[in-house]
Amino acid sequence: MFSYRHAFHAGNHADVLKHMTLVAILRYLTSAKDTPLLLADTHAGTGLYRLDSGDAQTSGEASEGVLPLWQQYGPGAPDEARAPEALAAYLQLLAGFNGGEALRKYPGSPFITATLMRAQDQLRLFELHPTDSRLLDNNVAELGRPDAIQVVRNNGFAGLKGLLPPSSRRGLVLIDPSYELKTDYGQVTATVQDALQRFATGCYVVWYPVIPRPEAHDLPRKLKAMAQQAGKSWLHATLAIGRAGDDGARDGLRASGMFIINPPFVLKEQLEQALPVVHRLLKRGSGASWAVEASKA
Ligand SMILES: C[S@@+](CC[C@H](N)C(=O)[O-])C[C@H]1O[C@@H](n2cnc3c(N)ncnc32)[C@H](O)[C@@H]1O
Repeated sequence: MFSYRHAFHAGNHADVLKHMTLVAILRYLTSAKDTPLLLADTHAGTGLYRLDSGDAQTSGEASEGVLPLWQQYGPGAPDEARAPEALAAYLQLLAGFNGGEALRKYPGSPFITATLMRAQDQLRLFELHPTDSRLLDNNVAELGRPDAIQVVRNNGFAGLKGLLPPSSRRGLVLIDPSYELKTDYGQVTATVQDALQRFATGCYVVWYPVIPRPEAHDLPRKLKAMAQQAGKSWLHATLAIGRAGDDGARDGLRASGMFIINPPFVLKEQLEQALPVVHRLLKRGSGASWAVEASKA
C-alpha cells in the first residue's frame, strides 16, 4: 500500500503553485457561465490539514511554502494590498478557513473546490488510501452537502471514465497523484488522452514533480503533444525554489509543474504576475526559477 501522506507536505511550495492555480481557474469557471460544472479530483487526499499538527511540523515544508507568503501578503500583513490577483485570491481563501487568526488550517484541493463551487455544481473526490479516504469522508461530511459532494474510495484514474462527459459539457478535472508509483506518469497521460476523447472541452489540470527522472521530464512534453494534436489550448507553469542552503535545511522536492489543457484565457497573465512574487519570497538557492509557457491564443 502507499506510504505517501499529504499531511506531511500540506502548504509546501508545490501546494502553493497547485492551489493558487486551482483557485484562479475555479474563480474564472464559476463566474464565466451559470451552466453547472462537473468538478473531479482524481487524487483528493484528506481535504483539510493542520499546519500545527505533528506531521506538518515534522516536515516543516509549509515554512518554505505558504507561510512566508502569508506573513508578507496575508490578511493584515505589510504588503497585503500589493499581492497580485492570483496570490491575493489564494490567500483570501485560506483566510476564510482561519477566521482572521494565524494560518493553522490548510485546505487541500477538495476543500478549495468545495469553497468556490456553486449550488448547481457537482464535486467528485477519489481517494484510494483507506485511512485518508476515511478522513476525507469525515471532513466532507462536515460540509453537509451530500447531494453535491461525493467521496469515492476508488482508483481515480479508472473512476474518472465513468464521469465523462458531464451532461452540462462543462467541467474541471484535477489530476494530482503522489507519483509514488513510476506507473503514475503513464497513467496520467493515458487518463488525459482518454478523457479528451470523451470530453474534449473539459479543463484538465495536472500537477507533477520536477525531479531527475525521465518519466517526470517526459510528462509535460507528452501532455503538450497531446493537446496540440487535439487542437486544444494549453498552459505550462513551473516553480522551483532551488537548492537548500547550508543551514541544515532538508532539501526535499525543489520544483514542480502544472500542465493545463483548455485553461481559462486569464490564467497566463495572472500566473505571470503572481509567480515572480512567489519566487522572490520562496527561493532558497541555485536553481530557483519560475516559468509560464502557453499555446498561442
Ligand atoms: C498529492 S496527494 C493529493 C493532494 C490533494 N490533491 C490536494 O491538493 O490537496 C495524492 C493522493 O492520492 C492518493 N492516491 C494515490 N493513488 C491513487 C489512485 N490511483 N486513485 C485515487 N487516489 C490515489 C494518495 O493516497 C494521496 O492521498
